[in-house]
Amino acid sequence: MKKDLIITIFGSTGDLTARKLLPAITALYESKNITNNVQIIALGRRDFTTEEYLTYIQKLTKKPLKLNVLRNILTYYKIQITELDDYINFQKYISNLTNPQTKQIYYMAIGPEILKNVAKNVSQSKLIEHQNPNHVLVFEKPFGHDLESAMKVNEMLWSYFDEQQIFRIDHYLGKEMIQNLMTVRFANRIFEDTWDSKSISKVKIHVKEQEGILTRAGYYDTSGALKDMVQSHLLQILSLVAMDAPKKYHSEYIKDEKVKVLRSLTLDTDCAIFGQYKGYLDEENIPLDSKTETFVYFRVFVNTPRFRGVPFEILTGKKLDKKESYIEIEYYPTDEQSKWQLDTVPNKLRINIQPDDGVELSINSKKPGLKENLEEVHLSFKTAESVEGNIPEAYEKLILDIVTGHRTLFTRWDEIDASWHFIDQVKKACKKFVVYENESDILSHIK
Ligand SMILES: NC(=O)c1ccc[n+]([C@@H]2O[C@H](COP(=O)([O-])OP(=O)(O)OC[C@H]3O[C@@H](n4cnc5c(N)ncnc54)[C@H](OP(=O)(O)O)[C@@H]3O)[C@@H](O)[C@H]2O)c1
Repeated sequence: MKKDLIITIFGSTGDLTARKLLPAITALYESKNITNNVQIIALGRRDFTTEEYLTYIQKLTKKPLKLNVLRNILTYYKIQITELDDYINFQKYISNLTNPQTKQIYYMAIGPEILKNVAKNVSQSKLIEHQNPNHVLVFEKPFGHDLESAMKVNEMLWSYFDEQQIFRIDHYLGKEMIQNLMTVRFANRIFEDTWDSKSISKVKIHVKEQEGILTRAGYYDTSGALKDMVQSHLLQILSLVAMDAPKKYHSEYIKDEKVKVLRSLTLDTDCAIFGQYKGYLDEENIPLDSKTETFVYFRVFVNTPRFRGVPFEILTGKKLDKKESYIEIEYYPTDEQSKWQLDTVPNKLRINIQPDDGVELSINSKKPGLKENLEEVHLSFKTAESVEGNIPEAYEKLILDIVTGHRTLFTRWDEIDASWHFIDQVKKACKKFVVYENESDILSHIK
């Protein structure tokens, strides 16, 4: 039977597939957000039947997979990723399931070291036909490890595929509050009219983690917090916070504005700090002399008419007090607050990304009672309190957007190019490196 949608996963025996992709696809299928005429093809080099594959993949994740659903829509298929003949045979297999209208998604849940080989074979076997908008390739960060390597990966992909066929995933952009950021900014007069350097004194973008590197030593030690977190997630958030309103609510216009922000960043080199948590060198497979940073802090200015002069504080690190990610917008006091010397604090808008995503606004208010005392109060909204059932996982939104061809949440090449330019500058400029015991220890180094 011909299918309407085929999702083929390279690297189907890995962590990403087990923990994120299969649960997201199953949820989309069960909620009828994708067609029920769908086929998932799990590609791997191991000798599995579909049933053996499902047993194996269930063991990789703590959460129970919906195996009964997957049995109806998933097939395991063995392939050697270096062998073009295997791809040609697979193409024949797939042609029995497709017609020209079938949407075919090739998801690269594989490391960057084998992406080139797979992309070449996928192209040469015509699994993905050049410029066919129904054939698309999806891959995840890391998008290179510096500007030069990112350019090479990109040139390689452009030699086989059209830009419109490439979906680069930064899963942070699928998070509910990141998607909500533009709505909060542009659909609320009280925020949009004050979203500039006249009203805003400071912006914090903090992504804190409580855990260490867990089992990711091999990857993490070659990357570090700057490349793993800042190059993608934090700079993406920064560009959404600082950009001007796009001419139209359309992905290309939005990306144009984000790129303008990324190209106008100036680092405050005085304050940048790299840190490494105490005990990092004792983690398994970490070289004893590793200088990889697990913490990064710096201030950056966005040289646009809207935000010139406003410091953006970027902070991310591991082994901190608790896992939390948020954006905090701090406003200047009103003239009256200053003139009357009121015992008040600046207004703050806090956008919580995780956990408990939502929005919180702190304002000054009179304490109820006979005296004239003032206090800071919080107006708050938690996303979870306004939805019935579960909030969809980031990957559900991202996969649905790939199926429907919505590109806003995916990264365009010039965003990556601009962010690597900046990250390379930070890497060169930052000399201060401290070993920290805990959060207050590392924060005590910030001026
Ligand atoms: N895991 C996440 O949450 C996450 C989040 C963001 C980005 N990513 C990115 O997504 C990619 C995959 O991550 P992952 O965590 O799923 O990695 P992983 O657990 O190491 O899985 C890698 C997959 O690639 C396959 N593979 C590796 N070398 C191969 C080879 N030479 N020939 C054939 N297959 C090969 C593995 O097959 P075998 O099982 O046969 O070895 C496995 O299926 C990476 O680029 C990662 O940076 C992952």
